[in-house]
Amino acid sequence: MTTSEKPARTGVMLITGASRGIGAATARLAAAAGYVVCVNFHRDAQAAGQVVDAVRQEGGRAFAVQADVTVEDDVVHLFTRCDEAFGRLTALVNNAGVLGSLARVDAMQSERLRTTFSTNISGAFLCAREAVRRMSTAHGGAGGAIVNVSSRAACFGAGGEYVDYAASKAALDALTRGLAQEVADEGVRVNAVRPGFIETAMHDGTGDPDRRETVRRRVPMGRLGTPDEVAQTILWLLSEQASYVTGALLDVAGGR
Ligand code: NAI
Repeated sequence: MTTSEKPARTGVMLITGASRGIGAATARLAAAAGYVVCVNFHRDAQAAGQVVDAVRQEGGRAFAVQADVTVEDDVVHLFTRCDEAFGRLTALVNNAGVLGSLARVDAMQSERLRTTFSTNISGAFLCAREAVRRMSTAHGGAGGAIVNVSSRAACFGAGGEYVDYAASKAALDALTRGLAQEVADEGVRVNAVRPGFIETAMHDGTGDPDRRETVRRRVPMGRLGTPDEVAQTILWLLSEQASYVTGALLDVAGGR
């Protein structure tokens, strides 16, 4: 897309964990749709820089900010940097997440549980709090929208594989529905996407070299989804086309 073809500025979007995978795909699509994009990353500054470069080469606007979503001071700094760089936040994608290796509950150590829940649910709470403080009309804001990246695992429980992860995503679904109720008449919509198996590096940490083929057989469509397919759904939920959609948990899972 050339600069002259660029759509009018749509708003400012902050995406957590956006240096790769679904977050990176969402950043590129959001920029192409006219958003200014804050690309949060945890550790990989180089990968985040590549996402920002790709956006800029397409004529979009993006910048990267390091923050660990499990650390409250980091989250506050992340949102403040976003305010300073581009002004009023209009969209948040709570995308950062971790998945442990395949294990039964009776083999899980407390450190794993702490990491899973502090990232997948506490981090999302902290980011949602900061977003609502900026978007809600009750706080003097002008409205906005939040999408939480949950998982179909929340519905299945993922027994024998990663019940901690499934439980954290079920909690994220509850956050989605409860927060949506709190801010529905304050100009803020809150929804979730629940991806099934998506082709990203997240599966590399499960410890199963055949993981992709194992999960592919469980999907009615017979294939894993792509990060872009999830990103397109996120963009729709954040758009004005979804203006009456809030508290929704939208499966993007190939029929599973
Ligand atoms: P990914 O592993 O490529 O992306 C996860 C991102 O979260 C990474 O960029 C990582 O650095 C970031 N992150 C982790 N801990 C963080 C922290 N403390 N602070 C900031 N960022 C942190 O995997 P993918 O697939 O792109 O995952 C994105 C989201 O989609 C996750 O929430 C995941 O649970 C969810 N999801 C993925 C599915 C899949 O099959 N790939 C299926 C269902 C949900």
